[in-house]
Amino acid sequence: MIKGVVFDLDGVITDTAEFHYLAWKELGEKIGIPFDRAFNENLKGISRMDSLERILELGNKQNHYSQEEKEALAHEKNEQYKELIKQITPSDILPGISTFIEDCKSKQLKLALASASKNGPAILESLGLKEEFGTIVDPASLAKGKPDPEIFIKGAELLGLKAEECIGVEDAEAGIAAVNAAGMFSVGVGNAESMKAADLFVEHTADLNLEAILQAVNNK
Ligand code: BG6
Ligand code: MG
Repeated sequence: MIKGVVFDLDGVITDTAEFHYLAWKELGEKIGIPFDRAFNENLKGISRMDSLERILELGNKQNHYSQEEKEALAHEKNEQYKELIKQITPSDILPGISTFIEDCKSKQLKLALASASKNGPAILESLGLKEEFGTIVDPASLAKGKPDPEIFIKGAELLGLKAEECIGVEDAEAGIAAVNAAGMFSVGVGNAESMKAADLFVEHTADLNLEAILQAVNNK
């Protein structure tokens, strides 16, 4: 029986996935590694330093920078990202998400946040969703990032639930892989190609329907 829902943040609750893309793109262009949205799909759900490594790999520049220089580049991206997220208000909650959260609460489902982002708590605050997510997995406490299941397993643990009693909602391929490996029912938001490993997917957050998801869990 489903008793909890573990949410990704960026690209599920709000469209910060776009801000991450813009900030990385600016840094990529500055260091001579331009990339497009298709490549950016590989960065979704991936930690800040791992994202930088992937970009450097794309440009064959992994060995061009010392660890200190890499940290400075990641810091620069984050400063740009923090500028972009200053504009976030509750009106930036993606369509359907507030209703979906309300539906979860009225079914007494417990909610947790499992985001790789260290900016997650600040974003929840700007969205006015801090109260809804009393349970947040601290990404700094993790040994491994998505696609490793650790973050979702921790999310369930913090809720006092078993992974199989939870649904995981994600927009990243790495995130769906993590939810599946945790043993949760995976709900993807995105296109059919990148969400092909999800137990159920919808193209837009507005199409998330708790009844339909619970039905699909029962039919699995
Ligand atoms: C994830 C995003 O939620 O958080 C990634 O999908 C991002 O794109 C990661 O790199 C880490 O975020 P932050 O805010 O700590 O740099
Ligand atoms: Mg995401």
